[in-house]
Amino acid sequence: MTLPRKRTAILISGRGSNMAALIAAAAEPGFPAEIVGVLSDRSDAPGLQAAQSLGVTARAVPRQDRDTNEAHERALDAALSRLKAELICLAGYMRVLSPGFVQKWQGRLINIHPALLPAFPGLDTHRRALEAGLRVHGATVHFVTAAVDDGPIIAQAAVPVLIGDGEAALAERVLRAEHKLYPIALALLAGGKVMMKDGRAVFEGETLLENGGTTLISPASWAGPSDLQDLARITP
Ligand code: GRF
Repeated sequence: MTLPRKRTAILISGRGSNMAALIAAAAEPGFPAEIVGVLSDRSDAPGLQAAQSLGVTARAVPRQDRDTNEAHERALDAALSRLKAELICLAGYMRVLSPGFVQKWQGRLINIHPALLPAFPGLDTHRRALEAGLRVHGATVHFVTAAVDDGPIIAQAAVPVLIGDGEAALAERVLRAEHKLYPIALALLAGGKVMMKDGRAVFEGETLLENGGTTLISPASWAGPSDLQDLARITP
């Protein structure tokens, strides 16, 4: 028996490349989530147009100057109800959601962060990773809790930091990994393979077998054409 696909909304503030990756993944037959709409807190977010051109309803729920956070979140919540959303993916959504909103959506609200949490919560993660001299960096998908860039981890993607990397090169490599990682994490959640329980991400036993025991994407397990270029740079 196939379960109905989970109605999923995506919240963005900007370009929406992760959003586009989720929309593309959900267009595949058998994907357990359906993207029912994209909402942005910024009317000028390029991702709004991108979503529409991919055939997904997209609209801005801007925060007006006179709005309180609560008023803005009420408007957001109303838009989510109209979409009949069951799950929310934050994809470059640049506002901190209130504890009340997070509580209401607990276990159904996930975020992607461009670092291997708990290292580097917050902004400028790639610059900070380079400054710290890391050899491995990456991205994390996690359940959202009231603390920013915290919350139980669902999946992580690691990428190498190559000698001579600047911020832009590293950001691009991480972003490519994000585009693979986020659909995997959403599929796990929408397919009922992971849930948030007692403040932890709990995986269904079977998931471990299907995924070879891991929800980690590591440099060894990703190989697209541009990954091979990366490898060529480090192979003498
Ligand atoms: C991504 O790096 C994501 O990890 C972070 O914000 C960025 C959004 O990029 N939360 P995009 O809008 O998905 O292209």
